Amino acid sequence: MGPLMRLSSLGLITCFLLLGFSLPARVPQQTGVVFLEGIDSPRVGFNWKNVTCPLCKALFTILDIALLSEVNEERVAQVVGEACIRLHLADEQVCRQITELFRDDFIRALQQSLLWPSEACALLVGSSCGKFDIYAPWNITLPKDPKPPVKPPSPPKPGSPQNRVLFLTDIHWDKEYEVGSSADCKDPLCCRKDSGSPSWRRREAGYWGTYSKCDLPLRTVENLLENVAKAGPWDWVYWTGDIPAHNVWSQTRKQQLSELTVITRLIHKHLGPNVTVYPAVGNHESTPVNSFPPPFVHGNRSSSWLYDTMAKEWTPWLPEQALKTLRYGGFYTAEVQPGLRVVSLNMNFCARENFWLMVNSTDPANQLQWLVHILQASEDKGEKVHIIGHIPPGLCLGSWSWNYYHILNRYESTISGQFFGHTHLDEFQMFFDEETMSRPLGVAFIAPSVTTYVNLNPGYRVYYVDGNYQGSSRFVLDHETYILNLTEANHSPGEPGGPQQDPKWTLLYRATQAYGLTTLFPSDCNGLMQTFLKEDQVFQKFWYLRHKGHVSEPCKETCKTTMLCFLRSGRYDELEQCDLLNGFGGNLARAARKTLC
Ligand SMILES: *[C@@H]1O[C@H](CO)[C@@H](O)[C@H](O)[C@H]1NC(C)=O
Ligand SMILES: *[C@@H]1O[C@H](CO)[C@@H](O)[C@H](O)[C@H]1NC(C)=O
Ligand SMILES: *[C@@H]1O[C@H](CO)[C@@H](O)[C@H](O)[C@H]1NC(C)=O
Ligand SMILES: *[C@@H]1O[C@H](CO)[C@@H](O)[C@H](O)[C@H]1NC(C)=O
Ligand SMILES: *[C@@H]1O[C@H](CO)[C@@H](O)[C@H](O)[C@H]1NC(C)=O
Ligand SMILES: *[C@@H]1O[C@H](CO)[C@@H](O)[C@H](O)[C@H]1NC(C)=O
Ligand SMILES: [Zn+2]
Ligand SMILES: [Zn+2]
Repeated sequence: MGPLMRLSSLGLITCFLLLGFSLPARVPQQTGVVFLEGIDSPRVGFNWKNVTCPLCKALFTILDIALLSEVNEERVAQVVGEACIRLHLADEQVCRQITELFRDDFIRALQQSLLWPSEACALLVGSSCGKFDIYAPWNITLPKDPKPPVKPPSPPKPGSPQNRVLFLTDIHWDKEYEVGSSADCKDPLCCRKDSGSPSWRRREAGYWGTYSKCDLPLRTVENLLENVAKAGPWDWVYWTGDIPAHNVWSQTRKQQLSELTVITRLIHKHLGPNVTVYPAVGNHESTPVNSFPPPFVHGNRSSSWLYDTMAKEWTPWLPEQALKTLRYGGFYTAEVQPGLRVVSLNMNFCARENFWLMVNSTDPANQLQWLVHILQASEDKGEKVHIIGHIPPGLCLGSWSWNYYHILNRYESTISGQFFGHTHLDEFQMFFDEETMSRPLGVAFIAPSVTTYVNLNPGYRVYYVDGNYQGSSRFVLDHETYILNLTEANHSPGEPGGPQQDPKWTLLYRATQAYGLTTLFPSDCNGLMQTFLKEDQVFQKFWYLRHKGHVSEPCKETCKTTMLCFLRSGRYDELEQCDLLNGFGGNLARAARKTLC
């Protein structure tokens, strides 16, 4: 009875993870209850609090021993699959495929962490029955070197050189995208061969993309690349991951690698050999999605299959030393120009959805300690640093997020830009000084996705960065967002219903123009937030642009408070606090973390 229930909970968690829902947040005291409530207690009428500590430990010892055998692993997988079906988390076939996919990684990770009797029983029965230190807090160490005096950036002299940087994120190419297939289906991803044909009332997949939970056909990705090639020259390119589509229940390693290779080579082909592209690893690059074992996992379960291929494909863009750390942990640093360095972080090591972190979430792969080391070296050289990554740091696990914020505070004079993706929306998050939480000292730009997922126009971003000259701040001065207006692209004016053959990617907005700013320094972005608060029409404009000009729902009272809270919170605990202050009971932080992306 006990183990079975536990296992169906695993099923639910598994499906949650794979289908992109977020797990309930954990509150330290009653973690176990929150973790399991609403899952099967009401169905089975069983309360873990009734179980005595020795009984709990006995149950889990038996379970752990049982799981050592492959036959039982098979049985666990079966139960998980059944739970997914019976709880109607997804269509039967999707459930079965998900379980199959997850079997090896997820069970292995659980065996190494949650299923140890001491932790499982602390979680389920209470802290008197064991120690629960999954996601325990940790601190990186900063060097003794004193923080240099802060000199806020000032606008460059008119005519100073600028760099034009192309920014691509969340391409999500769907190989099985099919024009005319159903755009409404119950799977997490539609517009595909097997989405079922549209009945007369339902919407169909369009030629260049679709306003629905659909990803992009290759032709749209190619068309974008042809267009950005014409819009060049680019000084360099940042590309922050999420290459494959959202069919997370049916992905294989082989297919993921093939998509990585195809898209990398397309970018290389269209942008030419003289443009350097700096990529970052997204949460969708792996399969199962979000599964990024830190380097303490060896052998076939490790991420070598992925990082080795990345290193091979990205060789034309990255120096040898960068390829080395890429193979080790999916992160690297490289000099962009004399005086400017980029650090590409593997943000999957900060994500709650990466279940391997249940085993050990203490600075996975030593990435943040490594970052400190790089930043100190840059500070010593007087070099500026841009940080790129997939998941915004404000959505990371608490301790990771806290440490990152702390590092940003220490190295505010060195870090001159932060660039992320993952939310698919056009937004940003502020960083303040830790002492007063009032002086803005950094901003993480979150750029909109290339993909339409969900209900969006395809798009890309261009950053204008203070250029290559003595004394340059290397800060972002401005940015532009370009979109493909699907309403127009899918319907040529000449032939009703027919798609345009040469669709136009158009400028949606230029930030300084849209908001009446001169630069996009942290103080400007902070001021913009104040304006959102005071002038609702400016906020409504932001809301429209946030969705690349295709808004599904308006944003009033609660939604607006939530949004402003998000923009202010470059640190996860700030987001939670803001949330509680506004009486949303932690829902906002949870929703913000939702991994649709
Ligand atoms: C568990 O405890 C509750 C009260 O704490 C009680 O009502 C319930 O009957 C108990 N269930 C079992 C299976 O012992
Ligand atoms: C980390 O550092 C902060 C402040 O410097 C301190 O309050 C906290 O207790 C430390 N945490 C750990 C786990 O050492
Ligand atoms: C690349 O740069 C080299 C040297 O600067 C130049 O000779 C070549 O024409 C460039 N190639 C392209 C495709 O722009
Ligand atoms: C490694 O794992 C993959 C994915 O689970 C599997 O397809 C492959 O057969 C495994 N290879 C070996 C040598 O075990
Ligand atoms: C987790 O990893 C850290 C850093 O690698 C290490 O110091 C620590 O001992 C590990 N914790 C456990 C419980 O294994
Ligand atoms: C897209 O095109 C439609 C039809 O011309 C127009 O109504 C809409 O405003 C356009 N959207 C954007 C963001 O330009
Ligand atoms: Zn993502
Ligand atoms: Zn994404």
